[in-house]
Amino acid sequence: MPDEVVHWMGEDSPRVIVDGTYGGGGHSRLLLDTLPPGEGHLIGLDRDPLVSQRVESEQHDPRLNVFLGSYEKIPKALQAMGLSAADAVLLDVGLSSDQLADTTRGFSFAVDAPLDLRFDPEFGTPASDWLAWKREEEIANAIYQYGEERCSRRIAREIIARRRREEPVRTVNDLVEVCRRCVPRPKNHDIHPATRTFQALRIVVNDELGIMERTIKAAPDWIAPGGRLVVISFHSLEDRIVKNAFRDDDRWEILTKKPIRPADAEVHANPRARSAKLRVARRIADPNQS
Ligand SMILES: C[S@@+](CC[C@H](N)C(=O)[O-])C[C@H]1O[C@@H](n2cnc3c(N)ncnc32)[C@H](O)[C@@H]1O
Repeated sequence: MPDEVVHWMGEDSPRVIVDGTYGGGGHSRLLLDTLPPGEGHLIGLDRDPLVSQRVESEQHDPRLNVFLGSYEKIPKALQAMGLSAADAVLLDVGLSSDQLADTTRGFSFAVDAPLDLRFDPEFGTPASDWLAWKREEEIANAIYQYGEERCSRRIAREIIARRRREEPVRTVNDLVEVCRRCVPRPKNHDIHPATRTFQALRIVVNDELGIMERTIKAAPDWIAPGGRLVVISFHSLEDRIVKNAFRDDDRWEILTKKPIRPADAEVHANPRARSAKLRVARRIADPNQS
């Protein structure tokens, strides 16, 4: 949602911009153009080490600094730059197109690979290990809750049955095969039977919802009064976290009563954008401070 991001991030002419999910840097490049020439800062963060490796090999604007790490670490990144607060912060969560095209970490179920699904392979548990030691009920609940997959119980049962046969789910193809067996192909819809299960496991192994909740709750501490937080989410649970966090803290003024959705032309060009929802809030002065 590039036009919407530039509009909602740029309205108050911010000087310290943070892109918490740098990815391919598409939004950051547009946001850099909104800074006055030679002035301001754009701080990028991404949890994927391939992002920072790529940025290091590129020639870039001296106003841009990209850090390897979760957007939960935004206050540390600000501190490292000698700054105390941000004027506009963007979180555009989920998978980048580079990650989808990556054939080694399991993000694309079109290509067989170890079932890893971590953004940063240095931290946490690969999805295959998670499936190797969790109980059936826990697996089913995660697939149901984070993937909204109605066949979650059947899938979990099949995963456990494979474990018992000593054929545990280790690879993308193993999990795709389980999903194909358990999920009936929908009639009018061409969503792949494994889509929801992969999404659920990615959310779990990266603690995506926990990080989002903690970060948005803390954000009024490091967004300057008058500054903005813009969040693009792709999952109803994520959108609920954003909506509730904005509603429950009286240091936020909600600028989007309803989430902004991508234009039809964008969804047509990029079908993955179809579930995107953008919400914006402005950090108001602390009501307890006179
Ligand atoms: C949808 S892409 C962002 C695309 C980016 N806005 C652009 O214009 O290219 C999401 C990115 O967020 C990153 N990511 C996911 N969770 C993160 C987190 N907790 N902290 C930092 N980056 C994260 C992913 O590695 C991925 O590169």
